[in-house]
Amino acid sequence: MSERPSFYVTTPIYYVNDVPHIGHAYTTLACDVLARFKRLDGYNVMFLTGTDEHGQKVEKSAEAAGVDPQAFCDKVSARFNDLAQAMNFSNDQFIRTTEPRHKLAVQHLWRVLEEKGYIYADNYAGWYSVRDEAFYAESELMEGEGGAKLAPTGAAVEWVEEPSYFFKLSAFEDRLLELYDSQTDFVMPKSRLNEVRSFVAGGLQDLSISRTTFNWGVPVPDADGHIMYVWIDALTNYLTAIGYPDEAGQAYKDFWPADVHMVGKDILRFHAVYWPAFLMAAELPLPKRVFAHGWWTNEGQKISKSLGNVIDPFELIESYGLDAVRFFMLREVPFGNDGDFSRSAFIARCNADLANGMGNLSQRTLAMIFKNCDGSIPHPGILSNEDSELLNNIDSLLDEVRKHIDMQAFNRAFDAIWKQSAAADTYISSQEPWKLKKTDPDRMYTVLYVLAEVIRQLAILMQPIMPESACKVLDQLKIEDRAFTALGATGRLASGTVIDKPVGVFPRLELDAEESA
Ligand code: ME8
Ligand code: MG
Repeated sequence: MSERPSFYVTTPIYYVNDVPHIGHAYTTLACDVLARFKRLDGYNVMFLTGTDEHGQKVEKSAEAAGVDPQAFCDKVSARFNDLAQAMNFSNDQFIRTTEPRHKLAVQHLWRVLEEKGYIYADNYAGWYSVRDEAFYAESELMEGEGGAKLAPTGAAVEWVEEPSYFFKLSAFEDRLLELYDSQTDFVMPKSRLNEVRSFVAGGLQDLSISRTTFNWGVPVPDADGHIMYVWIDALTNYLTAIGYPDEAGQAYKDFWPADVHMVGKDILRFHAVYWPAFLMAAELPLPKRVFAHGWWTNEGQKISKSLGNVIDPFELIESYGLDAVRFFMLREVPFGNDGDFSRSAFIARCNADLANGMGNLSQRTLAMIFKNCDGSIPHPGILSNEDSELLNNIDSLLDEVRKHIDMQAFNRAFDAIWKQSAAADTYISSQEPWKLKKTDPDRMYTVLYVLAEVIRQLAILMQPIMPESACKVLDQLKIEDRAFTALGATGRLASGTVIDKPVGVFPRLELDAEESA
């Protein structure tokens, strides 16, 4: 039995019909920052990501590629795994819905729902969008060109009529409304909670949860020809990963209910309506939060394969460096809002906050220490008010950052950290340590000590968002204890520690000629 508190965070599992792009990297990055933060803060963490490999959409993509669906899934799923490596994601598991353990878990959940009386057989007649893998009511459809019916997402819909099993979603209307009203952070941000609430308040239809017109999926137990609707299959991955149906198992006991299901706003309904209803029906505890973040556009345009403007995260990492990419995505836009990706904004942000901000602060300080203090951390003398103020603020920074991280307010967390970096810049300018070398070397030692200590703590706090760069700074300072317990006054830098010759950690970025033309 683990003594530490636990934290379970999940990404959506991505469809293998598409290659990974910036949108997928974004969601998983947000989870990676949460997972890394919680680990450093003493939690036992489970961070799950993976791929969603069943359903008509994937079946059709495999067909179009002329390969067998499993081979197709293996190939694309591996690309998502490559992305996780390239982005330095610290996921504890990478789940695939074609794994035997998953099929077992989904079939078990199906049987439970059936035993409890929430599944019945009937016929489905209605609209379906393969692109969205979603059923739509007539009233939700829009009119496209030439009077064609379209899903509210703009996807094509087709009329489907076939025998189907249904889930009694309508039985959960009141309980879902009660959930949203009593646990107002079940869905975040607030605007998304309102959206979900009004959808449910508008009345729920029972949900078709099996199909008979394709094969690529988990068979419904004891029902020939029925394949499970891909969303009941996909959502269950969050349980599979922690050992369900073994509810007595350690992983399940440690990690269920999940702390945060991170999703994009496109799949909110599945996570905030269907998923809690399935769990209520199965009498399983509900996840604590569904956070639906916003949507990235590229230079003002919707990102899509057909527009040919998909941003390739591998290419971005290659061009600008991994940590700049990680930093920009979560720093630029308040988490929850939509954001626009532009190269010029990317470069401006990284140069201001990284090259000129944190990078310059640590490079200047460490260079002065290396040159003027025999290459070792100096001994501080008596602290002035300015020294103490700067140190007190940095000592209490974790509490503030934690508060924001627990609300998934990444940009606020980084604002708080970068505010202290700016305060340290102001301090350098006012203390002018370079002038003290001749006039008051002891005071210079104190100022440089205070700065190095601030950098130590900033680097420890930066680890979740920029693990490699933070690690380089901590390596230069010869800091070994990097957990959050080392923050604050108890972990102060040891004077006399010999440091490495400092090397710049954050290069200045430039728009290359071709792109700026
Ligand atoms: O929906 N901006 O998978 P999916 C921000 N398999 N985020 C984006 C984005 C963009 N432009 N594009 C994609 C599925 N995303 C299901 C999920 S979960 C049980 C099953 C991210 O491959 C965002 O997280 O279509 C979005 O929700 C997700 O990718 C959709 O991925
Ligand atoms: Mg999608």
